[in-house]
Amino acid sequence: MIRTIPAVEEMQKTAATLKQDGKTIGLVPTMGYFHEGHLSLMRRSVEDNDVTIVTLFVNPTQFGQNEDLDAYPRDFERDKNMAEEAGVDYIFRPANDDMYPGGYKTYVKVEDWSSLLCGASRPVHFRGVTTICCKLFNICRPDRAYFGLKDAQQYLVLQKMVRDLNMNLELVPMPIVREGDGLAMSSRNVYLTRAERGAAVLLSRSLAEAKEKISGGETDAESIKRGIRDRLNSSEHVKIDYVEAVSTETLDPVSDVAAGTLIAVAAYLGKARLIDNIII
Ligand code: PAF
Repeated sequence: MIRTIPAVEEMQKTAATLKQDGKTIGLVPTMGYFHEGHLSLMRRSVEDNDVTIVTLFVNPTQFGQNEDLDAYPRDFERDKNMAEEAGVDYIFRPANDDMYPGGYKTYVKVEDWSSLLCGASRPVHFRGVTTICCKLFNICRPDRAYFGLKDAQQYLVLQKMVRDLNMNLELVPMPIVREGDGLAMSSRNVYLTRAERGAAVLLSRSLAEAKEKISGGETDAESIKRGIRDRLNSSEHVKIDYVEAVSTETLDPVSDVAAGTLIAVAAYLGKARLIDNIII
């Protein structure tokens, strides 16, 4: 039976006991409103570890002032049932003022990388993500933590934090889970109107076309990005935020696409800001 832990202190004590008993802990950090993407992380963690903790916290520090913190979809009972079915042992669901009590002052930031790609239009986002993940790692003491590659930059930034700060855990990247037509699953897909949902498929389609060109021998990043932009601009519902090709080692833009290149797109469709990517 799944157990919900609502307080930091109780989670810390539970994790300490699990470690004393020699259990391996898998962590799946989430903001809730689960879909198949989240479930794939949970199932993998259950396979790999003695105990799986899912954290459910809509983290205010990773949202900018005009972003969707208040509107972010929430349904705890549904999430709890889904996690239980996936075999999860604990849901850690702390309150805001338990994670960020009055007088809170400490943040973790991966310099430079936090301002690139999604960080350019979401300036506080990655500082919030690295701070909350650092806190969750300290509280839950995982051996492994699982992240979906839809948020490829998030995974790379967190991996950098873990290496730079000598954190003693393994981050496990997991493949993007897609709808039947290719749209990457995201809790934010619920914001899409019918027309926007129709156009949203252009993100994965433009990337699939890029992949095909690359398989056919194209390496010129500008030409590949132009193809993606043209495809996205074919719908009035899509407003491009960025289309970039960068190295997964350095996050620097590349002029030639090669193994290890991340091709990432972000676009606004009405209220939703959607992202997708491929790694060559
Ligand atoms: O990917 C997410 O849902 C969030 O950014 C995370 C990793 C749970 C941190 O709040």
